Amino acid sequence: MNNRVEIALNEQIKKETSSSQFYLAMASWAEKNGLNGTAKFMYSHSDEERFHMLKLVKFVNERGGKAIIPAIEQPPIEFENLKSVFELLLKHEISVTESINNLVDICLQEKDYTTHNFVQWYVSEQLEEEALARAVLDKIKLIGNDSGGLYLFDRDLESSIIQANNSNQMNDGK
Ligand code: FEO
Repeated sequence: MNNRVEIALNEQIKKETSSSQFYLAMASWAEKNGLNGTAKFMYSHSDEERFHMLKLVKFVNERGGKAIIPAIEQPPIEFENLKSVFELLLKHEISVTESINNLVDICLQEKDYTTHNFVQWYVSEQLEEEALARAVLDKIKLIGNDSGGLYLFDRDLESSIIQANNSNQMNDGK
């Protein structure tokens, strides 16, 4: 495997690992603060990021490179409020998109079209994740500081995740 591409893929493994930890910290904070819908959303998002990381690890190893499992950095313990949690999520996803774009750029420079093809999955995934984070944040901004509205928002988030999980299970034939 091309050396520059391998280094960039290992950097991406780090990013996905820290994303998973970051969202896990948000999930735990939300759970402790009675925001069960947000907690479920973040637990599930954290799992997705772990899946993104594993997909990269397997790709690097299968292509003859060496995947490096990184040390885990400590994510924040406290968050200001619900709005700031989703602002941080969007900011983080934007930084992941930049890193994916950088990876695409390196693949093209090194003429590694196989990895370029593999990375396209992440390009689409980032589009979806940024759009979702923006949509959720827009809702929170509309609600403002209305505690009743925030309660309903959290409850809606919980039921939307249950629905998404059910339809995934139906698609999986479970
Ligand atoms: Fe895997 Fe949300 O970046």
